Amino acid sequence: MIFEIVSSAVFGSVAGYGYLKNNGITNDAAKLQRIFRNCGLTVKEQGKEGKVTKEVHLYRKKKEDWGTEYVFRIPLGLSFNDFQNKIDNIRDGLNNKKKVLDIGLKDIKAIDFKKDIPKQIKGLLKKKPTQKEVDLSYDGMLRVKVYNKAMESYLEYEEVKRNGWKVPIGVDRLGRIVYQDFDAEYYVLVAGSVGGGKSNAVNLITSHFLFTQPENIKLALIDLKMGMELGPYENCKQVIGYAEHPEQVPAVLDKVESYIMAMSKRLKAQGYRNVIEAGIKERLFLIIDEIAELSPDEEAEKKAKKGEDPTAKDIKEFAWNKINHIARLGRAWGVRIVSATQHPIQECIPKYLKRNSDGRLCFPVEDEVASRVVLGTAGAESLPDISGRGLYKKGANITEVQTFRILNETIDRAIKPNLVRKEKARHSVADIQRAERGTDTLVFEEA
Ligand SMILES: Nc1ncnc2c1ncn2[C@@H]1O[C@H](COP(=O)(O)OP(=O)(O)O)[C@@H](O)[C@H]1O
Ligand SMILES: [Mg+2]
Repeated sequence: MIFEIVSSAVFGSVAGYGYLKNNGITNDAAKLQRIFRNCGLTVKEQGKEGKVTKEVHLYRKKKEDWGTEYVFRIPLGLSFNDFQNKIDNIRDGLNNKKKVLDIGLKDIKAIDFKKDIPKQIKGLLKKKPTQKEVDLSYDGMLRVKVYNKAMESYLEYEEVKRNGWKVPIGVDRLGRIVYQDFDAEYYVLVAGSVGGGKSNAVNLITSHFLFTQPENIKLALIDLKMGMELGPYENCKQVIGYAEHPEQVPAVLDKVESYIMAMSKRLKAQGYRNVIEAGIKERLFLIIDEIAELSPDEEAEKKAKKGEDPTAKDIKEFAWNKINHIARLGRAWGVRIVSATQHPIQECIPKYLKRNSDGRLCFPVEDEVASRVVLGTAGAESLPDISGRGLYKKGANITEVQTFRILNETIDRAIKPNLVRKEKARHSVADIQRAERGTDTLVFEEA
């Protein structure tokens, strides 16, 4: 439970809380209306008796376990954007002069009435104050969600037990863990401006499965930022292909394609339609950090500027088509794709990859247009400036998440037991080719 206390008020006894509550201090509706008025969110209309000011009208108020939702009707002539633009004024207004303390009934019950009561209450007031958070949305009515508690702003990834192909991405506003399930949403697209947390998320997914599925995961890695993020995984036994230069990319994609062909041929022959149905444990993850580096479109632009090697464009076009092909066919045959991009524009995400990416993780982006490209709606442009804070979309649902930070030492811990000499690592491709020729059996799991 959250109690609000005007900081200047003397909160001398338990009865004091009742006084404050009865006097409406915990009710933000009136305050919101005052803030709207003071921010000029009103409309002047010519009435019969001269000019009248039309204001925002409270339609409904609903208490939830996370806080309160206020639903307002807004006067004709104002848009949702007018309100969204004042989000800082609204937030600061609601937090003005107030301390919001997380004091529970348990704390109140623990007060010993035989002892010095004011002193005990003062102790409670020393609890760390929290800031209220506000979220606006519009569906014909203006919905203002006032959250009692700020969302977590930093959480570290800790090794968790094996949980199928689910990876804990982060926590939502209520502190619940948000999972990306690669056997439900096969591909995930991670987007956002530089420094938002894309590479951290890519590492989180990769390392998590090295911890939990070391025997069942295969990795095909593409990191054209000189392998800065994915380079450390290169010599893991799970890696069937690795590229940090454009000319290495076709070989990696060819391997993924061969994998698909081998798996589909084999399973179709046995009458299965996909790996899940066949009870196959293995999954091949194609992980691409900064996929825009491969965009032929960007390349054309760059080349005009720098006069780059003309073959580079051919490679990129080849790669772009291959990724689209893999994205179209891979799902059923155990391929999972994680791609990250800092340029969420149509030209920088292969069409079929975007279309088939059911999971979207979007960190702050520059503008509403970018947010719409990734999530199909505005929102990611106004995320708070907190490292690792993003919006996660699964189907039609969008959840604000604080993603788990994975530390370098945790990544190292995930990699270390899996390291093999390079030559040996590359041999795992032969396993696939053997399987393709039908001279080797793929691992089946009992359904
Ligand atoms: N989930 C997170 N929690 C806390 N800090 C994070 C998180 N993700 C990223 N960061 C911080 O932000 C920095 C940039 O993150 P990074 O993943 O490299 O961004 P991007 O790839 O989007 O440019 C990291 O070095 C780290 O300090
Ligand atoms: Mg990055």
